[in-house]
Amino acid sequence: MRSIIRAVQRDHGCRRPDAAQRTGPPGSGEEDPASGVVRCFGERPVPYDEPVEESGALVEPSPGELLAAARGAVAEGSPLIVAARSDAYAGFLRSLWLEHPELAVGLVMTTGDVVTPVGPGPGYHELSVDERGGVWRRESVPLELPEGEIPLGPDDVVLVSGGGKGFGHACAKALGEATGARLALFGRSEPDDDPALAADLGALTTDYAYEPADLGDSLAVAHAVRALEERLGQVTAIVHAGGVNRPARFSELKDGEIALHVAPKVGGLEALLAVVERPRLVVTFGSAAGRYGRACGSHVALANGLMRDRARKAGSLVRRVLTIEWGSEGRCDLFLRLLAVSDLSGTVSVRTGEDPHPQK
Ligand SMILES: NC(=O)c1ccc[n+]([C@@H]2O[C@H](COP(=O)([O-])OP(=O)(O)OC[C@H]3O[C@@H](n4cnc5c(N)ncnc54)[C@H](OP(=O)(O)O)[C@@H]3O)[C@@H](O)[C@H]2O)c1
Repeated sequence: MRSIIRAVQRDHGCRRPDAAQRTGPPGSGEEDPASGVVRCFGERPVPYDEPVEESGALVEPSPGELLAAARGAVAEGSPLIVAARSDAYAGFLRSLWLEHPELAVGLVMTTGDVVTPVGPGPGYHELSVDERGGVWRRESVPLELPEGEIPLGPDDVVLVSGGGKGFGHACAKALGEATGARLALFGRSEPDDDPALAADLGALTTDYAYEPADLGDSLAVAHAVRALEERLGQVTAIVHAGGVNRPARFSELKDGEIALHVAPKVGGLEALLAVVERPRLVVTFGSAAGRYGRACGSHVALANGLMRDRARKAGSLVRRVLTIEWGSEGRCDLFLRLLAVSDLSGTVSVRTGEDPHPQK
């Protein structure tokens, strides 16, 4: 799987990333974040040589079980080790550890019934165990960003959630201009009530239509998509950019705030996949926190990790699926270049100055 890393640092309003979050990948010291130079990193598994301890683990928890266990671990200062088949919870668990470095927090990815190994003592430990019991960690590998053609053209209709404002809008605009594809945009707001939305829509130079709909309401999404298709034609591709990001510490999070972040990302993706029949391309906008964690971002990480996992599962039905895990500063030109990557079935992380595969 390809993973491409561009590092960006920006304060999320909660607090600046600490040193543990900013440790760069090999060679990242050469990068000047202000220069805008894009550096790419892939990842590969390498044997884990450190001593491991065997540990009990929470096996394949539901999101509710995970949250309850995390609250218990924080309250009691006890370890939290999760064994799961995917990395959906990786960002959440590392976010938790970044806020509570006194804890031992671990994710062990495994395909079978294996003893759960974790690194010793407090820290964030992320390991995978193969079918023979071998223990692996992931390591960064610099990569060239491949060139290629965007697999969309004037015959396509691209449905963009969150496409009326913000980064989703900027990427949709760039995509329309680069390919001639028609843009079927939606968000919750009405242009009549939202001057920023009206201004963004007015700046579009290619064919588009906009409908208001909430990603948390699957019926409203279906209704909006049908209305957009009546005006533009059948949707052939999806860019799922809608979502919210309200930084908060894990210990301050109420269930409602978590649901507010998870629903548009995960339920929203479900709603889009349910209403669009066999799209040629599905791109979801996640965040680097969703894979690597961020202090004050555990809920965002949970939402994006679960969405990434759901998108991967869609890969068995949709030929091209890509989750882009943006750092704190997105770039439309990079979005277009990533769409041109011929093998789109995977996850791409885009960030600056942070270790893409932190072990601690
Ligand atoms: N900007 C970045 O550098 C960056 C970094 C990491 C990740 N991302 C990801 O990129 C996406 C856009 O980020 P952004 O920074 O541009 O955020 P933003 O400015 O807050 O825009 C969010 C967009 O999503 C829409 N939206 C929010 N909740 C929705 C809902 N329930 N139903 C339908 N639409 C909804 C909003 O429109 P309404 O308000 O009209 O609903 C708006 O168009 C997000 O998925 C985010 O996780 C961006």
